[in-house]
Amino acid sequence: MTAGARAERGCGRGVSIIVPTLREAQNIPALAARIDAALSGGGTAWELLLVDDDSDDGSDRVVAQLAERLPVRMEVRKQSPRDLSAAVLLGFQLARYDRLVVLDADLSHPPERIADLLAALGDGREIVMGSRYGEGGSVGPRWGVWRLLNSRLATALARPLASCSDPLSGFFAIPRRALPDLAGLDPLGYKIGLELLVRGQLEVKEVPIEFAKRQAGSSKMGWRQQVDFLRHLGRLYRYRFGGLTRAACFGLVGASGLVIDVSIYLGLQSLGVEHRTARLVSFWPAVSWNWLVNRRVTYNGRPTQPRLRQWAKFTASSLIGLGANVGTYAALTTWVAGFDRRRLLALLTGVAVGGMLNFLVATMYVYRRHAVPGPPRGRRVATQGTVREHR
Ligand code: GDD
Ligand code: MN
Repeated sequence: MTAGARAERGCGRGVSIIVPTLREAQNIPALAARIDAALSGGGTAWELLLVDDDSDDGSDRVVAQLAERLPVRMEVRKQSPRDLSAAVLLGFQLARYDRLVVLDADLSHPPERIADLLAALGDGREIVMGSRYGEGGSVGPRWGVWRLLNSRLATALARPLASCSDPLSGFFAIPRRALPDLAGLDPLGYKIGLELLVRGQLEVKEVPIEFAKRQAGSSKMGWRQQVDFLRHLGRLYRYRFGGLTRAACFGLVGASGLVIDVSIYLGLQSLGVEHRTARLVSFWPAVSWNWLVNRRVTYNGRPTQPRLRQWAKFTASSLIGLGANVGTYAALTTWVAGFDRRRLLALLTGVAVGGMLNFLVATMYVYRRHAVPGPPRGRRVATQGTVREHR
């Protein structure tokens, strides 16, 4: 049983809508009203749980008023530093229902789409994210070039970590049973969705959304949040790809394979074999050597898989690498002046391109780590009243 499944016992059926807030008093009434209009009448129990980072802008009074007629409450974090991800994690712990939805308070994420996210969740899905960049999604016409470029670049940086069009989306739905052990998470800043995708190894389904302009107030995204994003990315890359150690090891193994590769490549040519044929043949002993040493050393500690199947996977992924490798070689020797006489340099360039591709596929697929959820260590806090402080 997963940590999430264990936590689900004793949880009512319904939807907890978790919204991190920082000085959003102006947006909260409209947010609550639109959620109410969208969900009430649908027969699903729901609650709106605002996790505030000590805004001190009257949000608590606004919430107290709303709570007289709607299932709305607010949790106030007093810890420093303020952090969107930490707020959402606290929300997960305090939520009442078995399905969790996270969205922004500024109405950038249309509450009317919550039902679509939940529908896509169905019974078996692990997470559904609202995507701005998939087919049918949009960021509206008002984003300036700078914001669009910035967001696109950030998304490109995160792409190798998650296989979806918008891994940085802040609008998503997740069943409680799919939540990874919260104590095993280590997020920082805005991208709690990405953290869940990567560390929870969740299979994601995307629903296109139109990201609207912030209703009132101002964005809290500044330089610090951008730097935090890069630091968070670094953590996730190290987690996902084992950091420099693993990459360096993979590179060394690759280099040893290269020695075999080049020796056979040159040896065959000295026997009169045509250079492209020699290039193709020398690949096989080299790839088998690489598979074995990576299995024993580089990915030592990862779950072992049946040898033949894993060799086949590694070889298949290496063939993709070989495609990039030989393709680069062929392109350089055929079309780039000078490489025709410097074939070894063309070969090395091809190896570098193919090698990087191989490393990614090996880490994420061939020697993949499977989720082994530990026991839940997240503290559960009892809640009473509408606005509660949490220190
Ligand atoms: N509790 C808490 N603590 N909430 C915060 C904090 C914080 O430190 N910082 C921001 N928030 C809340 C805001 O009040 C808002 O409800 C939501 O988090 C998003 O903050 P914005 O300031 O509106 O951020 P944005 O519009 O630039 O970012 C959006 O787009 C990103 C992708 O480009 C959000 O959807 C992000 O989650 C998303 O990653
Ligand atoms: Mn916003």
